[in-house]
Amino acid sequence: LTTQVAIIGGGPSGLLLSQLLNKSGVETVILERSTRDHVLSRIRAGILEWGTVELLRAAGVDARMDREGIPHDGCYLTDDELMVHIDFKELTGKQVMVYGQTEVTADLYNAQDAMGTTVLHGVSDVSIHDLDQSRSRVEFTHEGERKVLKCLYVAGCDGFHGVSRKTIPEEKRREFERVYPFGWLGILSETPPVHDELIYSNSKHGFALASMRNENLVRYYVQVPLSDKVEDWSDQRFWDEFSRRIPSEAANRLITGPSIEKSIAPLRSFVSEPLRWGNLFLVGDSAHIVPPTGAKGLNLAASDVFYLHSALTEAVTGKGTGGIDDYSSKALARIWKAMRFSWQMTTMLHRFDGEDAFAEQMRKATLDHLAHSETARRDLAENYIGLPF
Ligand code: FAD
Ligand code: DHB
Repeated sequence: LTTQVAIIGGGPSGLLLSQLLNKSGVETVILERSTRDHVLSRIRAGILEWGTVELLRAAGVDARMDREGIPHDGCYLTDDELMVHIDFKELTGKQVMVYGQTEVTADLYNAQDAMGTTVLHGVSDVSIHDLDQSRSRVEFTHEGERKVLKCLYVAGCDGFHGVSRKTIPEEKRREFERVYPFGWLGILSETPPVHDELIYSNSKHGFALASMRNENLVRYYVQVPLSDKVEDWSDQRFWDEFSRRIPSEAANRLITGPSIEKSIAPLRSFVSEPLRWGNLFLVGDSAHIVPPTGAKGLNLAASDVFYLHSALTEAVTGKGTGGIDDYSSKALARIWKAMRFSWQMTTMLHRFDGEDAFAEQMRKATLDHLAHSETARRDLAENYIGLPF
């Protein structure tokens, strides 16, 4: 088996990179550990920056997004009963798009099938070799047989727990990490959204987020201790807790119903530098994790892909290696700013166990400042809609 770019991981990073490379005439093979159904059943991100929307257009996967996605002009940040409106459209001229990661991934799989790209599911024991040679090699097991994929470059799109990052010798990597002492419990429910825009709520009972997928499907979250299990949270307990964490103006309109999915995700900030090791390039969650509070995880994966797809196309088509040489530093400059924003949003909106009264006052003052300063709101809006690529 031979290709130009071997892509480890068939999540959003791997699929989007592959699709854009294929569109520029570069050959790829994708190796994915799970089944397609499993990848498509993971409920994750819901908000696309406009830069991500435009990149998906360039990849030719915009038809269903334009039909079913919902552009949003703003969102709310709240502190108990105070609702601060952040009007992205007025402050920055830009919007974001409500369109789930599950849908993006499904659209990309369909587009890759139409391109005829080889996507192998159920691969295991992936190992990456000869990254300092002109031809590199990926070994893996598929359908009970050990196989070899020869390639020019390897894209590590295999998420936080993948093999790609760990292929870089430990002494050549620098890792930065912050683990937060709480998680998010999220539910999906076929009910109408409590508001037509997202609400990020700070309250004395902890954080809550009201998001949505469409006019009859909501995605709501509450901050929970790391020790909590999904089984600890009946639907009734979730609705009671959620409604006391959002302003009463919103809670009074809340329509509840059975949950159709319920999961807990821990919160973490993580960066591993550099993103390149010989012919291997890390993309998305394989190199960095943000806490979900700024809606940046999927969008950062997309900006990595933006930088890498043009760089790899140039390299493979003999137009020079300047792009791949600059990939790590260019992508990291944007990653660190999204890290800062996600950390700041997380700190501003969550209760930390054992925190003192001073910390609570700092959150309140930050939200009050946002309510009264257009400059502060513009800064938040500029980061939320996504910094330029
Ligand atoms: P992934 O989506 O992790 O894809 C990696 C792929 O590689 C997977 O399909 C995996 O099966 C495969 N793989 C792993 N190891 C191997 C291997 N050894 N060999 C072959 N294949 C392998 N972001 C937000 O913005 N908002 C959210 O609300 C949000 N919620 C999240 C909830 C959870 C539980 C998680 C884990 C993430 C969440 N994120 C959220 C982050 C966002 O989903 C990720 O940033 C995004 O999925 C990154 O895409 P990726 O393709 O880089 O990685
Ligand atoms: C969603 C998740 C986020 O982390 C976020 O900041 C906004 C929306 C969502 O799942 O809809």
